[in-house]
Amino acid sequence: MPFTPPYPPRKSVGGPLATLCAARDNFIAVLTPSMFEAETVHRKYLNQVLFFCNSPKTVRQVFIDDAANVEPKSQQMIHVLRPLLGNGLFVSEGAHWAKHRRIIAPLTHISRLAQFVPAMSGAVAHRAEQWRAARGTEIDILAEMAELTADVIGRAVFGGKLGVGAAKKIVQNFSAYQRTVGTLDLASMLGLPDYFPRWQSRATIRAAESIKALVSEMIAALDAIDPGEREGLVSMMLDAFRAEGVAPGDVRDEATVLLMAGHETTANTLAWAWYCLSQDEVSWNELRDELRSLGRPPVDLDDVERLRFTRAVIDETLRLFPPVPILARRSREDREIEGHHVPAGSFVAAVPWLLHRHKKLWREPDLFDPWRFMPNGGGAPDRYCYLPFSIGPRICTGMAFALTEAVICLATLAQVARPKLREGHPVMPCARLSLRPGEYLPMVLDAGALES
Ligand code: HEM
Repeated sequence: MPFTPPYPPRKSVGGPLATLCAARDNFIAVLTPSMFEAETVHRKYLNQVLFFCNSPKTVRQVFIDDAANVEPKSQQMIHVLRPLLGNGLFVSEGAHWAKHRRIIAPLTHISRLAQFVPAMSGAVAHRAEQWRAARGTEIDILAEMAELTADVIGRAVFGGKLGVGAAKKIVQNFSAYQRTVGTLDLASMLGLPDYFPRWQSRATIRAAESIKALVSEMIAALDAIDPGEREGLVSMMLDAFRAEGVAPGDVRDEATVLLMAGHETTANTLAWAWYCLSQDEVSWNELRDELRSLGRPPVDLDDVERLRFTRAVIDETLRLFPPVPILARRSREDREIEGHHVPAGSFVAAVPWLLHRHKKLWREPDLFDPWRFMPNGGGAPDRYCYLPFSIGPRICTGMAFALTEAVICLATLAQVARPKLREGHPVMPCARLSLRPGEYLPMVLDAGALES
């Protein structure tokens, strides 16, 4: 039976204020059926114009051709992330962003990927041992994947010597941070000016402060090591920033960006992939056969290249459950877009959750069908309607890293065990800072691909 994963009901939740309040809890639950067919979405909520680019043409027009007009991230996004990320890449703008991006993007470029494979395979081998011993027991796959990807990014950012132990503490604090912030900042959505006071709860500030303190400690420990002995992205950043005369303090913000951007997103992708594979026998069987033909865990980029179906499962998971379900910006100047007036200061977005499930773009858009990403499956109907890693100048710098990591982790663990959802456990996607399957995802570990 083809598998269609659950999604929130598509209906109006009431007037503007009710919609904004509901959007704070789960942004994707306020999207109406017509939005899954429209080329643009244009709404006015009190003082604020909201405009969604909802077709390849408008995405290209706004995010590529006119990217400078929507360079600033939305006020909502900045308000939510600044206490944690300071002036790090994800939220910075202008000359500061351009300079830091030029230094940071090459560090995780596809050409350097091979050097991170040991961090990935080392972390997942450790987890695979634990899964082998835990077969038959129930685990929270969401927490497991968060720890695993934090372990990977911890090793990649701080190197094999220091990064291994840092993961657990970081995950706990990130989860605390995420629990206490809403995706949408109501004051900004109502169009209130920047000087209007916005508050963060004490718990949010506390979680941000402990992450920052932990990251600073790790950087200081790394900086104390002889440069010839240091490894990892922070070590490269320290050298590159010093050479460019950037303040060493900025390294903390950028390291925090990499830790945040690089763990939660991949963790959610893997958790959703396990969920879909636990519900879809046909896809699991195809994956199992591919993993049997490899016969051992992937250890290098050639192995990753061979695992085509594993990669297709990841691509399809990113389509149905884009970890960043909305790419939100603020427009600098007035524009006319497809007949709509979009004044300066508007909330302008591309919404992967809508574009990836658009009825006029995709065949059976809500169905889990990894074959669409296999060589003869056609792939995405247009490059501007498949945006799990964003598009334009702010495109994710860690895309190649994340895809390689996801394939290595899924393949290695699926050889050892197959997680199956606890019977009767309700699953519903919820979009806060990222798109998650609720607070936890209980699964029982069954026999894996090499043993079933
Ligand atoms: C499945 C995993 C991932 C997904 C879906 C993802 C998605 C994204 C998206 C959508 C953005 C841009 C947001 C926007 O346009 O508003 C972004 C930015 C970014 N990502 Fe990723 N990401 C993933 C993994 C990673 C990893 C592993 C790293 C680092 C190793 C990373 C580093 C970054 C950085 C530094 C930015 C900021 C770029 C800038 O603003 O110039 N990401 N990511």
